[in-house]
Amino acid sequence: MSKFTGKTAVISGGAEGIGLSIAKALGEQKMNIVLTDINEENLQKATLELEANGVCVLPVVLDVAEEDQWQAVAEQAIARFGKIHMVVNNAGVGGESGSIESQNKKAWQWALDVNLMGVVYGAKVMVPLIKQHDEGGWVVNVASMAGMGGVPYSGAYTATKAAVVALSESWAGELESKGINVSVLCPAFVQTRIYDSERNRPAQYQSDMVNLDNENSFFNKAKEMVKNGIEVSIVGKRVVEALNDGEFYIFTHPNYHAVMKKRSSDIDAAFKKSSESPLLQHLVNQKIEML
Ligand SMILES: NC(=O)c1ccc[n+]([C@@H]2O[C@H](COP(=O)([O-])OP(=O)(O)OC[C@H]3O[C@@H](n4cnc5c(N)ncnc54)[C@H](O)[C@@H]3O)[C@@H](O)[C@H]2O)c1
Repeated sequence: MSKFTGKTAVISGGAEGIGLSIAKALGEQKMNIVLTDINEENLQKATLELEANGVCVLPVVLDVAEEDQWQAVAEQAIARFGKIHMVVNNAGVGGESGSIESQNKKAWQWALDVNLMGVVYGAKVMVPLIKQHDEGGWVVNVASMAGMGGVPYSGAYTATKAAVVALSESWAGELESKGINVSVLCPAFVQTRIYDSERNRPAQYQSDMVNLDNENSFFNKAKEMVKNGIEVSIVGKRVVEALNDGEFYIFTHPNYHAVMKKRSSDIDAAFKKSSESPLLQHLVNQKIEML
């Protein structure tokens, strides 16, 4: 018996890719799975696959950008399993890639509503239910390595993923005393259909403006890197391993450490520069108060 056995996880975007991989890994730990996705057909297929492996699954169609749909998920989950212990805010879209001037408002709004507000609504609805019992729980947000450092020609995606990392850091401090562990998953490239997110773009986010940049070499390179990424089944297992160890940042690509080291040494160098500025000498040794 593991610490997950008999508990209930709500997973968004769980019909395929990383979400389904996490559902399988948590199902192996004997968690009940509330599997949600915008794509009903794939949701049914994934449910059958999990059930064939002996997992207790409640499938619910959910567009994460619609807060009232999250409420409906919560009601059905409580009616079926009684309690909720974990929310995995995984659903996400790649959005449009391209230059600053090629990104139109609807493309931005789609990325913001799914990748950022979807995570916000997931926590807003599920965290109070996790707090309702004294068994503790988990909030697992799926960001990206793109959230740990800017990716060119990918402004909207990068901004939403950086926001999810920052939100997770904020919520970790807020929920620690409530016995709820927050983690943020930051994968680099994983073999999924993320590069084909257009398949899930609702009508209200469709634009008349043709983004010619979408055919650009950056998009094609990123697509190739996803196709050559790590095998998706590793990710779910890695999440269980990391949750068992109480890891906050969950990395799946240790080889990307070099990129992070470059960023943190650039920041160290920038702070050093500010400490040498004659304008700022009065602050150099001033104590700071943390919230
Ligand atoms: N694949 C990668 O290389 C990679 C890298 C870093 C981060 N990620 C992140 O992992 C998460 C999962 O993506 P993936 O790679 O498995 O992609 P994917 O496209 O294979 O799966 C995404 C799932 O989310 C669902 N979805 C899309 N829009 C939705 C919405 N509005 N509401 C509910 N469900 C919705 C899709 O139907 C699909 O089942 C995303 O947040 C993505 O940004 C992926």
